[in-house]
Amino acid sequence: MYVCICRQVTDAEIRELCGDGCVDFEQVQEKTGVASQCGKCFERANDLIEEIRHASSFSSAA
Ligand code: FES
Repeated sequence: MYVCICRQVTDAEIRELCGDGCVDFEQVQEKTGVASQCGKCFERANDLIEEIRHASSFSSAA
């Protein structure tokens, strides 16, 4: 599913980057360009990254 239409960034791409060590929005934006055009996807992308980070901190704590 596309998170960012302008830059054609998908949730799968963001999940993969987070799995590869991107830890915050700025790093994901640097690699993908997400939210760098119209900016309408910023909240959605940021929420997704936070959700992934939260989920991975739970799984690494278990
Ligand atoms: S939808 Fe992401 S910058 Fe426009």
